Amino acid sequence: MALKLEFAPLSTPPKGVLIVFCDEALKLGSATRQVLAPTGDLVSRAAAAERFKGKSASSLDIVAPAGLDVARLVVIGVGKLRDLKPRHFLKLGGVAMGKVPRAAEEATIIADLPGGAPKPDAVAEIALGARLRAYSFDRYKTKRKEGEEKPAEVRVTIAVSNVGAVQKAYAARDAVANGVTFARDLVNEPANVLYPDEFAQRATTLKKLGVAVEVLDVAAMKKLGMNALLGVGQGSEHESRCVIMRWNGGKKGTPPIAFIGKGVCFDTGGISIKPAGSMEDMKGDMAGAACVVGLMQTLAARKAKANVVGAIGLVENSVDGKSQRPGDIVTTMSGQTIEVINTDAEGRLVLADVLHYVNTRFKPKFMVDLATLTGAIIIALGNEYAGLFSNDDRLADRLIKAGRQTGEKVWRMPLGAEFDKQIESKFADMKNVGGRSAGSITAALILSRFVEKTPWAHLDIAGTGMGSPQTDTNKSWGSGFGVRLLDRLVADHYEK
Ligand code: BES
Ligand code: MN
Ligand code: ZN
Repeated sequence: MALKLEFAPLSTPPKGVLIVFCDEALKLGSATRQVLAPTGDLVSRAAAAERFKGKSASSLDIVAPAGLDVARLVVIGVGKLRDLKPRHFLKLGGVAMGKVPRAAEEATIIADLPGGAPKPDAVAEIALGARLRAYSFDRYKTKRKEGEEKPAEVRVTIAVSNVGAVQKAYAARDAVANGVTFARDLVNEPANVLYPDEFAQRATTLKKLGVAVEVLDVAAMKKLGMNALLGVGQGSEHESRCVIMRWNGGKKGTPPIAFIGKGVCFDTGGISIKPAGSMEDMKGDMAGAACVVGLMQTLAARKAKANVVGAIGLVENSVDGKSQRPGDIVTTMSGQTIEVINTDAEGRLVLADVLHYVNTRFKPKFMVDLATLTGAIIIALGNEYAGLFSNDDRLADRLIKAGRQTGEKVWRMPLGAEFDKQIESKFADMKNVGGRSAGSITAALILSRFVEKTPWAHLDIAGTGMGSPQTDTNKSWGSGFGVRLLDRLVADHYEK
């Protein structure tokens, strides 16, 4: 649903669906009380009839409320006022947007609480939550059931106590919402549309925001010796690409920070082919790369004061006479050799070369990679937490903190020499799989061999980047996971 979001003063007459907030004692803010005055005791009677108690994120629906010129009145609980933390407002915005029926054309959210109007930052979070909730990917839906026709656009007005201050606080969130939207669109696109070159072209659109974009083609990557990445893509009709994006909003000459994404546009497993069940989900095996592109867009749009490199390895892992075989040995750009035991463990091969390339060319302060790397991380952490692996405690702690603040949660997993023997190869420096046990750890361990001493973190987003459970701020298959997390990491630690 296309959403047109506006801020207006609290005095604006509400239209369409009116959404207000109350606490656990069903108390309303003073501005809200004023708007609802003509309804008398309607809210308290409806609450009693529905046993609505104002619990956090619960809601009360009143259709055609007498005394008000609106189609519907929705009261959303925020729970106990003193338990309400800044990070809860995003969810409230999502819940509010979720109460706007599909067919509605207009809604008004009164950003007001019994303790007084929330701070501009909190209101801006409500707005971001609403934006994220309103996203849907329906580019390929040409037919609609009767009664499910959607209006071209829904206008949502958030009534606030200080329009200017809220608009200022919202500007950066608007960039975040657009970045998440871009990432979700990329993840949701099917692989017949979004193959490596098409992905590279979409990343190239960031040029209009002042991002420097370079696209390496197969010849360029051959020259660089990126044979591990190229080996994965060699069986595909679609040529591989590597895209390097640079945003230099920081001090001139200070070393950049770097984000690297796995961009397997489709993962059949290659010759070690995957079973048919749910293989269609492997169009989302580029969620890491999608996040990096969405993040770069966000940072550029909000003119982040940081020097940032984004790099993505784009390939299709196909089955063909030209595909690489189990037993093949590839020489990576770093010079280390890898024996390919299983062609379905392809993400680490792609990342091995991109990590080394970024590390040696840019000498970044730190690197974070995102990858839908292993099914094993879903067994370990489900769809709630991304797996975090790192060679640097400070970077790991900052990511954990950013995860708590944004709700894009990460859980640290171990990494260490104890696991080395699992990836010893008879013929090469290492093999690309370490057996059934600790599958996510041995995958991360391979990546760690391509970052040298640079502080680095790896986020295994196989469970969170796509198909994750629907939340109050996401109803889409592709979640855009990581954009908000890493935007927060950059804002809190690297823009000072
Ligand atoms: N892209 C998959 C991992 C994956 C699985 C992502 C499910 C999202 C949902 C990855 O390339 C893969 O195939 N990993 C293998 C590794 C194994 C062969 C060592 C896996 O997890 O089974
Ligand atoms: Mn695979
Ligand atoms: Zn994969």
